[in-house]
Amino acid sequence: MSQHLTVVSHPLIQHKLTLMREKTTSTAVFRQLLREISQLLAYEITRELDMTTKMIETPIQEMQAPVLAGKKLALISILRAGNGLLDGVHDLIPSARVGFVGLYRDEETLQPVQYYFKVPTELDERLVIAVDPMLATGNSSVAAIDLLKEAGATNIRFLCLLAAPEGVARMKEAHPDVPIVTAALDERLNELGYIVPGLGDAGDRMFGTK
Ligand code: URA
Repeated sequence: MSQHLTVVSHPLIQHKLTLMREKTTSTAVFRQLLREISQLLAYEITRELDMTTKMIETPIQEMQAPVLAGKKLALISILRAGNGLLDGVHDLIPSARVGFVGLYRDEETLQPVQYYFKVPTELDERLVIAVDPMLATGNSSVAAIDLLKEAGATNIRFLCLLAAPEGVARMKEAHPDVPIVTAALDERLNELGYIVPGLGDAGDRMFGTK
């Protein structure tokens, strides 16, 4: 992807995102909408995947048919909210390998703390798509990408639902080689590090915690 930030303005994504933002939307509906939007975002983030052809036989004749080239993709969920995006992307790319990076945000310093790291082998040969619904301060996203690069990844994309300008700037500074795809670029962060207008705490809203 050539652009650092892509905002996917598809009407279905924007409509579903508005439903997700509404505070009265239930946990079950929130999760379902996130799954649907992530499928649409996955379509966009995989638009320029390398292709090759293979010989197949249709009921009519043989043909050279297009297929994805190279090793299977790696989808990396940044826990825990990443799992909500992961499911929809995985629906669309079921053969992808899946990894998890466990980071939680220290509510005082807003800095990420690692508690889990398990990723597919041969990351250096795969397109790696890291998923986290909220790109807020960018601290945990930058830390997760640091870890993925340490594990060998060289071709990484970052998929989120909402981004704050502060997080986009932080990612661009730390990882200018990692394109970001999002459904919306919101106004700013508030003093607690939440995206404004945002949708609140994505993990709480998808899992019904507080
Ligand atoms: N994480 C969230 O879940 N929501 C925000 O607004 C910011 C970070």
